[in-house]
Amino acid sequence: MITIALSKGRLFDESVRLLTDAGLDCSELEQPSRKLIFYTPDEQVRLVLVKPSDVPTYVEYGIADAGIVGKDVLMEEGRSLYEMLDLKYGRCRIVVAGFPEKRDTWITRAYTRVATKYPNIAKSYFSSQDKTVEIIKLNGSVELGPLTGLSDVIIDIVESGRTLKENGLVVLDEICPISARLVVNRISLKTKNTEIRSLINNIQRMLEEKKT
Ligand code: PRP
Repeated sequence: MITIALSKGRLFDESVRLLTDAGLDCSELEQPSRKLIFYTPDEQVRLVLVKPSDVPTYVEYGIADAGIVGKDVLMEEGRSLYEMLDLKYGRCRIVVAGFPEKRDTWITRAYTRVATKYPNIAKSYFSSQDKTVEIIKLNGSVELGPLTGLSDVIIDIVESGRTLKENGLVVLDEICPISARLVVNRISLKTKNTEIRSLINNIQRMLEEKKT
């Protein structure tokens, strides 16, 4: 049996679809429920539903052999695991955003306050710049940072751009594009090689089919 950690939230529905298309019977997951652990009917796969930022932890510690998680979370958590596949969904961008009038001035300011759910990504983004940055960790509704005066700018993900737009904010700089990734525990890749390779091959075949 292999265990797969699935991110709850924005990647969830697409991840269930992906695993179903790859041949796993995930029908139990499609029913409304508060359960956190599911098994496929053949009991070959156990699925655990975790908070996105915890997926790399479950995979690094080998509680889950594999996981599906956003590249943003992988960059932020910096866990020791193998990133095996770009799943091409959950596409968004990590950006610096703020009020439009900051467009020219924020980068030249010697001191900037940055609100973000991603303090490590923010630290590494600013590490090459000669300026003092105060990074303020928030857990959600990051756009409130500039709106309330808590921060000058934010570093956050943008998908449709709607949240920024409806709050009068704009993208000031692009950091990187992100998407969902299949990650695998380092030891599981050796000890459960057949099962994990078969999962990867099935997903890969399906991604290829989708392209054509
Ligand atoms: C994310 C992100 C933005 C928003 C971007 O928040 O932090 O606020 O989605 O999406 P959009 O460009 O399509 O508007 P999320 O919905 O995960 O909620 P949160 O603010 O509670 O973290």
